Amino acid sequence: VTQETTQPEVNIGLVGHVDHGKTTLVQALSGSWTDQHSEEMKRGISIRLGYADATFRKFPDTDEPECYTVEEERPDGTKSDPLRTVSFVDAPGHETLMATMLSGASLMDGAVLVVSATEDVPQSQTEEHLMALDIIGIENIVIAQNKVDLVDRDRAVDNYQQIQEFVEGTVAEDAPIVPISAQQGVNMDLLIGAIEDEIPTPERTEGEDARMYVARSFDINRPGTTWENLSGGVIGGSLVAGEFENGDEIQLRPGREVEEGGKTEWQSIETSIRSLQAGSENVDSVTPGGLIGVGTGLDPSLAKGDALGGQVAGTPGSLPPTRNDFEMDVELLDRVVGENDEVEEISTGEPLMLTVGTATTVGAVTSARTGECEVKLKRPVCAPEGAKIAINRRVGARWRLIGVGTLTE
Ligand code: GTP
Repeated sequence: VTQETTQPEVNIGLVGHVDHGKTTLVQALSGSWTDQHSEEMKRGISIRLGYADATFRKFPDTDEPECYTVEEERPDGTKSDPLRTVSFVDAPGHETLMATMLSGASLMDGAVLVVSATEDVPQSQTEEHLMALDIIGIENIVIAQNKVDLVDRDRAVDNYQQIQEFVEGTVAEDAPIVPISAQQGVNMDLLIGAIEDEIPTPERTEGEDARMYVARSFDINRPGTTWENLSGGVIGGSLVAGEFENGDEIQLRPGREVEEGGKTEWQSIETSIRSLQAGSENVDSVTPGGLIGVGTGLDPSLAKGDALGGQVAGTPGSLPPTRNDFEMDVELLDRVVGENDEVEEISTGEPLMLTVGTATTVGAVTSARTGECEVKLKRPVCAPEGAKIAINRRVGARWRLIGVGTLTE
């Protein structure tokens, strides 16, 4: 790696209980959330999924872990070399985090679980998020024991042991636990070193069909732009396989709703790539990792206001089918997330809110048996067999996560 900034090559989920310090940690590792380039687009995309990039670096001729840093230069003038750029995925909003995590498995290559040393372990979301990592099988995990500046040594050791006990028998059993203070910047080198060791960049298969999960979409034209100067619709999200190059033809599914003879039908959209952005720079090609923005030849009005959010884009002819209904195997949680109630079986006729990839749609249960059910969707989704689905049920005034589905047909 020779460039100063590069496209992020790995996505790391940032999870943990509210106020345990996720945002502070991201800030300590990445400076600020947005960069100077194309503020608007980048900010727009970040709000929904919450990505922030950080370039990990290493000081030459320095021992581990002190060599690890995010600074370009030490006070004595020694310059560091970039190792790799990572992207932190910090899905905001505590209600939707779990759903996004569960269905966005392929968007995360590993996770940092932030646990505050000031509270007993586990707090409710610490437990829920670890459960989610377990369910989706994210095995590359680093635990950041945060806020150690606020506790004395005994309390820190005690808390450390609580964390060890808590992760026993889970997917995080062997995860390193790194005591840090995100706010004071303490042990950031150790944490970076642990992430470098535990969360490697996944190997990508060359020549694979490209597939992107679209999280947002925009019309980036200012009002009053003349026709000749109009830019096509922009889609933002993450590439999970293959490569996009400027000029490539792409297909989007489900596409758009077309009305014919009183019947509506969803038809995929074909367009071409006019511009690409990754790591907040304009580039000629992109590979998986981080957040990308794709300028297309689409009528910008089609992309306005996230209209294409939840869709899948990729190599024409390679996309999974568009489904108006599907069957899934269902694994219910023991308790409703955010409540203490036990989860009751899914029943025929009840509405469910389903998150599939970046798409969220409401479905009516047309048939339910123990461990499986069939749903008919209000809005179709593009999803392959085996796709993971976060299942939410209406409890009182809100949707609550009750289980995970695997699409079977
Ligand atoms: P949500 O996004 O609301 O889930 O919270 P969060 O996990 O992102 O926590 P956030 O980073 O907002 O931190 C919560 C509070 O803890 C803030 O007031 C931080 O300044 C403080 N805080 C975070 N890390 C540390 C730390 O290492 N030491 C101390 N003393 N305070 C910290």
